[in-house]
Amino acid sequence: MKALVLGGGGREHALVRALSLDPGVTSIHCAPGNPGISDLAENHVINVTDGLAVTELAARIRAELVVIGPEAPLVAGVADALRDRGIPVFGPDQAAARLEGSKAFAKEVMEAAGVPTARARVCRNASQVSEALDEFGAPYVVKNDGLAAGKGVVVTEDRAAAERHARECGRVVIEEFLDGPEVSLFVLSDGAHALPLLPAQDFKRAYDGDEGPNTGGMGAYAPLPWAPTSLVDEVLESVVRPTLMEMNRRGMRYQGLLYVGLALTSRGPRVVEFNARFGDPETQVVLDRLATPIGAVLQATDTGGLGSIGSLQWKAGAAVTVVVAAENYPGDPAKGDLIGGLDAADALDGAYVLHAGTDWDGARDVKSNGGRVLNVVGTGADLRQARERAYEAVSRIELRGSFHRTDIAERAAAQL
Ligand code: AMP
Ligand code: GLY
Repeated sequence: MKALVLGGGGREHALVRALSLDPGVTSIHCAPGNPGISDLAENHVINVTDGLAVTELAARIRAELVVIGPEAPLVAGVADALRDRGIPVFGPDQAAARLEGSKAFAKEVMEAAGVPTARARVCRNASQVSEALDEFGAPYVVKNDGLAAGKGVVVTEDRAAAERHARECGRVVIEEFLDGPEVSLFVLSDGAHALPLLPAQDFKRAYDGDEGPNTGGMGAYAPLPWAPTSLVDEVLESVVRPTLMEMNRRGMRYQGLLYVGLALTSRGPRVVEFNARFGDPETQVVLDRLATPIGAVLQATDTGGLGSIGSLQWKAGAAVTVVVAAENYPGDPAKGDLIGGLDAADALDGAYVLHAGTDWDGARDVKSNGGRVLNVVGTGADLRQARERAYEAVSRIELRGSFHRTDIAERAAAQL
């Protein structure tokens, strides 16, 4: 199988790596890719939100599977363009991707499907905002209605800050605060069958102890030794199947990956958000643990036949990823700084580096080119070992002004 992956972050590096380990995958292309990905795939420079440009590239390289990594091409309708040309694609159509693209739409679907989630109000002006903030009380949760790359949400005790965020966004969703640990569950869907992946946990806040601003995610680990064994089945029943049925009812067959962001509250799991694509950086640890070859599984979400795959196989042990972020992330991150120690980090047993926001500096050197620069992955027999290896590898990276959280998977590893 010839595969084309769209995107150029750590999630796409993980996808390309997983495809490269699949004996059924004969060649891998990526657009735009990054320097790390170029070790495993041929990179192409195109606009990945342009359906025509993507379709032309896919046809030229005779791709038998196009894997769409980020949300922007999905929301732009790139999957539709590929399906129209009969090219198998991993990712939902534009209409179905609104589950991620519009928080208001996602809430409407959840309500119609009876899916447990936070009570919410869509607000268009200051008086609606003020009423909703009164109704739900602090801590306040204010979400930009559109796509915001994981940074459109403000959770705060500070009423003025909540009001300021609402003013800056225009249309917002204001909702009740959900208490409890967060879990990311990814589910593959061909519209009829749902196939769950391993649950993972992400760390959204920028600094240790869940302090600081929300980010796209500062680290992740899988599996979750503390999660109840019934969790996945429960979420399939209460969230995933009703949502997929509701989407079918609306004529929006959901094909690709449904990312279910959950809060495990005292009243049971509640949906915090849906995304229409793999989570970043959770994918980096989940795919590390996947033993089933990934190519045919991703393809089956489009061509049908997920039902005949049965269940996915997972490697024993654990994986932890730590994000090395650029100075000033998530504000206006520093870019263009040389990165040292990549080979030294990769050389460690049970550790490797995925590129998230990097670019070439000349022919051989690599420089930072984004807020989340690297995802350093550690693996091991358990979370404790995976964590040690990840942090040992992080300590070998040299990047001026960079920072990382030191508490990724700390609590889970301590409970072992
Ligand atoms: P979202 O973009 O909807 O995923 O929100 C980003 C992050 O904000 C989530 O991962 C949570 O940490 C936090 N968050 C969102 N909604 C809520 C909520 N209703 N209650 C508590 N935290 C929330
Ligand atoms: N890690 C959160 C996300 O991908 O949205």
